[in-house]
Order: sequence, then structure tokens, then C-alpha cells
Amino acid sequence: MLSLTQIGRRPTPRPSFRHVLRTETRAEHEASEAWFAPFMEEPERHMVAFLAAQRAALAALELACARPGSPELAAVMPDTMRALDADCADRDIRPPALMVAHEVAPLAAGYLALGSRLGVEVMRRRLVEKDVRPVPRFFLQPDATRTWAAICTKLDAVDPDGAAADGLIEDTKTGYALFAQAAGLTFDWTPT
Ligand code: HEM
Repeated sequence: MLSLTQIGRRPTPRPSFRHVLRTETRAEHEASEAWFAPFMEEPERHMVAFLAAQRAALAALELACARPGSPELAAVMPDTMRALDADCADRDIRPPALMVAHEVAPLAAGYLALGSRLGVEVMRRRLVEKDVRPVPRFFLQPDATRTWAAICTKLDAVDPDGAAADGLIEDTKTGYALFAQAAGLTFDWTPT
């Protein structure tokens, strides 16, 4: 049996790159939550701004990720865009187009598109709580847990100290900025 001293000397396990990525981009995620906070508060009132922002940001993310290489992104994006287009058409929304100045690596784009689904599930529950009917298609997409798991596996294979890691962190921040930029155009407020 290991003594307490031996346990104390054991090296702490290195956090996986996914964990590092999440920590390093926490501020950007919190900023995204702040931009969409009015929607969480009053979903019906801010539905147009929300759907327009999601459509604009996801289209920009797709454009930014011009390099092929994310089968995960390819697996979910067509359905997501179809759902958003139909939701926008129902409400006569014409989402703005964003300028895409920087490329986003496919793995970072996949992380954002699939990771944000976790937030969408929280939003869907909020819509039910607030009795929003009908729930827009964007919130009713097929379960993507397996695709998210595939992204997480790929991220965990990245060496947190390796050359690719910094680039992926930067690209993820670039991607989050697209969501903030989109929300800035469609919501009539700015988080303080
Ligand atoms: C009101 C807005 C939002 C809410 C309430 C929200 C909420 C959440 C929640 C609850 C999770 C799961 C966290 C966990 O498992 O501990 C999550 C994860 C995530 N969200 Fe958001 N989110 C929002 C907006 C966004 C936006 C705009 C993006 C942009 C792409 C985004 C990207 C992500 C990503 C990438 C993850 C995965 C983080 C990780 O576990 O590595 N979220 N979000």
C-alpha cells in the first residue's frame, strides 16, 4: 500500500488539451453567455435577435473554416443551417453577414459548433420553462453527443505543450469573437 508521503509525491495528472482549451477560453465563453443573457431572460422577446446572431455566426464560422478536415462539422452543419434558415424564413429575418478576417482550424470550428450544442440544450429547456411555442427548429436538432465525443477525443490527442495547441486556442478565441460580433449586430444592448 502507498504511504501518504508517497501519494503526496505522485505527479499530478496533466490536464488534457480539451481541459486546457476550455480553461484558456473560459473568458470568451463567459462573454458569449453575457451577450445572449437577455435571450435567456426573455426568450420570446429576443428570439429574432438570437436566431439572426446564430445564423450569422455559424455561417461565418463555416467560411472561416475554409480548409476541409472536420468531418464532425460536416456532419452537423447542413442540418443546423437548414433549421436556422427555416426558422429565419418563418419570421422574415434576414441575418447580417459578418466579415471573416481570420481562418479557424477545423478542429477549433468543430469544438465551437458542437460544444455550443451543450448550451443550446440549456436554452431549449429554458424555452420550455417559459412556455415558448412553437420551439424553433434550431433547438430541436438530433442528438449530437457522439459527434461531440469524437471532437473531444481528437482534442485530447493534441499535446497541450505542442506546436498545434496555441494555434487551436487562438482559433477558438477567433471563433467566439464571431458570436460576439454577430450578437453585437442583432441585439440592442452591449454587456458591461
Ligand atoms: C446564453 C448563452 C450560452 C449558454 C447558457 C451556454 C451554456 C453552456 C453550458 C451549460 C455548457 C456546458 C458546460 C459544461 O459541460 O460544464 C456549454 C459548453 C460550451 N459552450 Fe456554451 N453557452 C452559451 C453560449 C455559447 C456560445 C455563443 C458559444 C459559441 C460557440 C458556446 C460554446 C460552447 C462550447 C465550445 C462549450 C464546450 C466547453 C467544453 O466543455 O469544453 N456557448 N455552454
